Amino acid sequence: MENIDWKNLGFGYIKTPKRYVSNYKDGSWDTGCLTEDGTVALCESAGVLQYAQTIFEGLKAYRTVDGRLVTFRPDLNAARMVESARRLVMPPFPEQQFVDAILQTVRANADYVPPYGTGASFYLRPFMFGTDAVLGVAPATEFQFRVFGTPAGPYFRGGAKPISIRVTDYDRAAPHGTGHIKAGLNYAMSLYAIEEAHKLGFTENLYLDSATRTYVEETGGANFIFITKDGKLVTPKSDTILPSVCRRSLMHVAAYILGMEVEERHITLDEVRDMAECGLCGTAAVLSPVGRIHDHGKDILLPSGMEKMGPVCQELYDTLTGIQYGRIEGPEGWIREVEL
Ligand code: PLP
Ligand code: COI
Repeated sequence: MENIDWKNLGFGYIKTPKRYVSNYKDGSWDTGCLTEDGTVALCESAGVLQYAQTIFEGLKAYRTVDGRLVTFRPDLNAARMVESARRLVMPPFPEQQFVDAILQTVRANADYVPPYGTGASFYLRPFMFGTDAVLGVAPATEFQFRVFGTPAGPYFRGGAKPISIRVTDYDRAAPHGTGHIKAGLNYAMSLYAIEEAHKLGFTENLYLDSATRTYVEETGGANFIFITKDGKLVTPKSDTILPSVCRRSLMHVAAYILGMEVEERHITLDEVRDMAECGLCGTAAVLSPVGRIHDHGKDILLPSGMEKMGPVCQELYDTLTGIQYGRIEGPEGWIREVEL
């Protein structure tokens, strides 16, 4: 096991020994292999460099209470990456090979998967980009798929402390655009808004739907869930947000394990004033409580406050992380064990 201060890890890149690489050329992906080389050398006119033809995924591996190494629903990331690839005219990476690449990367870096009980986990970043030269606007014809992993702590500093976010006037996704896929370009165009939010003292941006500026969409890197005063989980329905694996999992946990009512529907910003709890969910964010939403000079203060997560979010969090860390048996197929 590496000598790392696991309990104080933030969310940043730490180079680990091995990563997985596969190349696409002449119409097919090669079998792929592990390499120690963490650098990528590219043609100056590569599709990724000129026209941002790149997509990515994010998922985690965990060391369980009984010492196993597991990943959480990697098949859903594999399937979502196929959707992202189609939308950016890239060759889909075979789903079985994707899951295999994940398992190989975790196994090869097992010493970097944080010990159980530290609150940290091993964040995996699969990504794919156009490698051959383009000059006119056109898709590349050669691509590289890679997966690296890095030990990671909480995405939002402070971990389970509620955060303050603001409603932004910038948009992250247009109707019929790319908001529903995990394209690098969606994040590039959010950088200005996130820098501005940070300068003003907010941790994240709440994006409204860009067509009507009425409905809550998501933040730059996580979906929303809300808990109503009568204990329902409600979450935005939209074609322009990323279909979060974490959110789909929390909806299942809420409905089938905790016996809650769950609704996926349009949620107006006005309605948020009446919610009991608000959380941001995603692989990196896990379930991070929101205490305050700033909207153009006015504050929406969630009754759960700024000190700790609300009780329903806490129950959802405990159940989901209980499944991920092997304390609770999850639904069939959610946990993929890494054979050592
Ligand atoms: N929304 C956006 C924009 C994201 O970048 C992410 C992170 O992947 C999520 C939501 C959460 O998705 P998931 O739970 O699949 O990580
Ligand atoms: C993830 O949660 O995996 C993401 O990709 C979000 C990103 C903002 C770190």
